[in-house]
Amino acid sequence: MPEHNYHAYDEAFWQTFAARYETEPGPINLENGYFGRMTDTVLDEYQRNIAFINRSNSLYARQRFEQAQSSEIHRQVADLLQAPAEAVALTHSATDALQSLIRNYNRLQPGDQVLFCDLEYDTVKGAMQWLGRHRGVEVIQIEHPHPASFDSLVGAYREAFARHPRLKLMALTHVTHRTGLVMPVAAIAAAAREHGIDVILDGAHALGQIEFNLAYLGIAFAGFNLHKWIGAPLTQGVLYIDPQRLADIDPDMGESHYPATDVRARTPYATPNIPALLTLPLVLEEHRNLGGAATKGARLKYLRNLWVRQVQDIEDIEIMIPDDPRLYGGITSLRFVGRDQQDMAERLLRDYNLFTVVRSGSACGPCIRITPGFATSAADMHRLAKALRELSL
Ligand SMILES: Cc1ncc(COP(=O)(O)O)c(C=O)c1O
Repeated sequence: MPEHNYHAYDEAFWQTFAARYETEPGPINLENGYFGRMTDTVLDEYQRNIAFINRSNSLYARQRFEQAQSSEIHRQVADLLQAPAEAVALTHSATDALQSLIRNYNRLQPGDQVLFCDLEYDTVKGAMQWLGRHRGVEVIQIEHPHPASFDSLVGAYREAFARHPRLKLMALTHVTHRTGLVMPVAAIAAAAREHGIDVILDGAHALGQIEFNLAYLGIAFAGFNLHKWIGAPLTQGVLYIDPQRLADIDPDMGESHYPATDVRARTPYATPNIPALLTLPLVLEEHRNLGGAATKGARLKYLRNLWVRQVQDIEDIEIMIPDDPRLYGGITSLRFVGRDQQDMAERLLRDYNLFTVVRSGSACGPCIRITPGFATSAADMHRLAKALRELSL
């Protein structure tokens, strides 16, 4: 029975839900952006599957898993993306998926241009730089104006597209891990299309937290993971290629396990984490029963707003992303103006028992990232707001 329509602010419901995550005693974790916890039921199932696969070994893996179960799991993951199974390959991580796409995109000629921005994830930045060395393309990097707005973000791309007429490929991050900014993907992809530029979308922080549809966004190539906001065991990623564009991505380094017409040939063939894959049907069922990304995203955004609203008037604290609900989800970074951010994150931990992380690498400078999770309470957010206020004095 679906349990949908839980209100983001129904603290009693969410506290019951939070009790399903066993947590180690210690600081309050406001760094849930690294990876997500599994629920108690998922953890039990995963442990059972580890023991089962360890007992049954290759006999089960070859006779049952490879023959039937893996395709059913594959289909369920494609359903999560509202995509056909032939558009989806399972990988070990978002990085695996994104780097396979970048490495194997075959439409670049020497002298073409590729583009990424300051907010991309480092493994994506590195792979785009690699194209410069190995494909003879010119690598263009742009920095987004700060503070950003919906129009300034789209405008920065429009300007880059006009200035660099040989652009063929760009990376785009749906939800950046640096500040939490949610990119206007549909508008940027539409502008890219006008210039014949392909987009590889990094959806690592989007899947499970933001409702989206790749066809509506106009995205042909994307990479995700299931171990952040979907709640899967670690080491689960997804590669997406619009089936009509499959020919534009080569099989990975001569991969021959699957035919060249199969999307699964676009990633390295390797022994999968079978117990984790066997756990996915339960993970996806729980995700759906909760109401999917709509419910999860609304809760995270509610928690985010609880702390942001209490501190956004403080002069010495800068909220790194604009107050435009289209441009944020549950993650938001802040900066103590004129202070050392690492030092302030350490004070949050030492003096207030709040665990956060400093993120640098964006043009707007280092900041402290606040990422609530499904075990976070409204009280945790009030505690954070109080701490921020005190530390800003
Ligand atoms: C925006 C973004 N992209 C990509 C990744 C990489 O994901 P994975 O660890 O699954 O490779 C992360 C991980 O934190 C991320 O935040």
